[in-house]
Amino acid sequence: MLSFHRQATRQLLLSARTCFSSKGDKKPSHPKFVFGVPKETFPHENRVAATPESIKNLVKDGHQVLVETGAGQKANFADNVYQEVGAKVVDSKSIYDQSDVILKIRPPENTKALKENQTLTSFIYPAQNKELLNQLQEKKITTFAMECVPRITRAQTYDALSSMANIAGYKAVVLAANEFGRFFAGQMTAAGKVPPAKVMVIGAGVAGLSAIVTAKNMGAIVRAFDTRLATKEQVKSCGAEFLEVKINGEVVDGAGIGGYAKEMGKEYLEAELALFLKQAKEVDIIITTALIPGRPAPKLLSKELVENMKQGSIIVDLAAETGGNCELCKPGELYNHEGKVKIIGYTDLPSRLPTQSSTLYANNIGKLMQYIVGTIKDPNGNMTQVDLNDDVVRQSLVTLNGELKWPPPPIITSKSELQQADTTKAATGHKKQEVKVDPYKQAWKNHLQWLMMALGYQSPNMEFLKMLNTFALAGIVGYQVVWGVTPALHSPLMSVTNAVSGIIIVGGMELMDGRVFTRIL
Ligand SMILES: NC(=O)c1ccc[n+]([C@@H]2O[C@H](COP(=O)([O-])OP(=O)(O)OC[C@H]3O[C@@H](n4cnc5c(N)ncnc54)[C@H](O)[C@@H]3O)[C@@H](O)[C@H]2O)c1
Repeated sequence: MLSFHRQATRQLLLSARTCFSSKGDKKPSHPKFVFGVPKETFPHENRVAATPESIKNLVKDGHQVLVETGAGQKANFADNVYQEVGAKVVDSKSIYDQSDVILKIRPPENTKALKENQTLTSFIYPAQNKELLNQLQEKKITTFAMECVPRITRAQTYDALSSMANIAGYKAVVLAANEFGRFFAGQMTAAGKVPPAKVMVIGAGVAGLSAIVTAKNMGAIVRAFDTRLATKEQVKSCGAEFLEVKINGEVVDGAGIGGYAKEMGKEYLEAELALFLKQAKEVDIIITTALIPGRPAPKLLSKELVENMKQGSIIVDLAAETGGNCELCKPGELYNHEGKVKIIGYTDLPSRLPTQSSTLYANNIGKLMQYIVGTIKDPNGNMTQVDLNDDVVRQSLVTLNGELKWPPPPIITSKSELQQADTTKAATGHKKQEVKVDPYKQAWKNHLQWLMMALGYQSPNMEFLKMLNTFALAGIVGYQVVWGVTPALHSPLMSVTNAVSGIIIVGGMELMDGRVFTRIL
C-alpha cells in the first residue's frame, strides 16, 4: 500500500513538473528593433499608428521608436509628448532610413520610401491592392496586415478591424443624429408630444452592435437584422428588437466558417428585401453594415426602398467602401436623394474620431508587434524568424522577406467547420491545417489517472471527494460549453460566466460563515 502511495505521489509530481516546467523558466529575451511611425499621407486621414501610451510599452521592451514630426498632431498627440515617453521625433526620410519596422494605418500608396528587407505593418487589403503586393514582393518586404489578424478570442487585443468598426458604428449614429431633423428620444413637452426616432440596423457585427447601443442610449427605438442567428441574443441584450426572415415558416441561419456570414440563396435574399421594404416605410433611420468577408457588399436597399422612406429619413451606409449596401450610395459622399432621403456613404468614419481611433489602433498594432516579436526565439534574430506555426502570426503575414504568404490556410475551430472547409478547399486552394498536439494537454491526459488516484488516496473524507467530483464535472461541462460555442458569442458568454463566478464566490463566503475553512473540510 505504501509503495502504491509513493508511486502515485511521484507520478503526480512528475505530471506537475512536465506541465509547468517551461512556464517557470526565466522569460526568454527577444530581439530589439527600431520601430518607425510616419505621418499618414492619405487625404483627410487624421489618425496616427502610435500614441505616447503605446510607445511606452515598446520602449519598456527595449525597442527604439522614431516618430515623424507632426505625425500625431491631427489626433491631438503633440511631438513633445512622444519625446517625453522616450520616442525620437525625426523627419520622414529618417523614419524610413533608420527603422526596422514601419507602423502605419493606411496601406502605403507605393513602396518607394521603404528599404529592402524592411518590415511593414498596416492595413494592406492584399486582394484589392495587387500592385502594392507585387512591389512588396520585389522589395523583399516582410508585411503584416492588420485586417488579416484572425478574429479569435486570444487575438482580440490586436483586432484593429473590430476597434475601427466599433468607432464607425458609434459615429454612424452621431452623423445620422446630426442630419436628422428630430430628437432621438421621445418627449412629452408643454409644446406637444415628440415621438421617439425609429432606427433599423442591418448587420449585427461589431459596427452594427455598436450602432445599436449608441442609438439605444440616445433614446431611439431600435430594431436590427442579421442573417446569423447567433446575433439574436446579442441584439436583444443591447435592448433592440431582432427582426427575422422565415422561409417556408422556418428561420434560416446564415452562419458560415469562423462565425462569419455566408452568402444566402436567392429565395432568402428576396424574403430579406421584402422585410426591409416593409420596415423602410416605418423607420426614420437605417444604418446598414452588412458584410460577407471577401465579397462585394450585398445590395440590400434598392432605389424603390429609398423612395418608400419618409421625408427627412437618413441612411448611413457603412459598407460604402466595398460598394455599399444601398443601391444609391455614393462612396465618400453625403447624397440627398430627391431632397427626401439623405444617404451618408463616408468611408472614413474612424478618422472622423481621430483621438479615439488612434488610441485603439495604436494599442492593437503595438500589442501585435510585441506578440510577434515574442515569437522570435533567437535574441539576435530578425522579423523573418517569426513563428509561422502561430495562428496569429501566420494569418496576419502577407509577405515574408518578399515571399508571398497570402492567403493563409484557414483556422479551423470546430468539426463542422472542418467539414465545410474541406468542401471549399478546392475553391480556395488552401491546404488543410495539420492538427497540432499540445504537449501540456498530452501530459495531463497521460497522467490524469495517477492524479485522480493520488487525490482519492489523500482525500480526508467522503465530502471532500463529493465536492471534488462536482468541481471536476462542472469544469468539464464549462470547458465543453466554452469551446463548443461560436466565436461571436465568446464575449457575452464571458460576461455571464464572470457574473455567475461572482455570485458563487459571494455564496461561498456566506457559507463559510466567517471561517477560513468550511465545516465540511
Ligand atoms: N465607413 C467606414 O468608415 C467604416 C469603418 C469601419 C468599418 N466599416 C464597415 O462596416 C461594415 C461592418 O463591419 P463589421 O466589423 O461590423 O463587420 P462584421 O463582419 O463584424 O459584421 C457584418 C455583419 O453583417 C452581417 N451580414 C452579412 N450579410 C448580411 C445580409 N445579407 N443581411 C444582414 N446581415 C448580413 C454578418 O452576419 C455580420 O454580422 C463593413 O462593411 C466594414 O467595412 C466602415
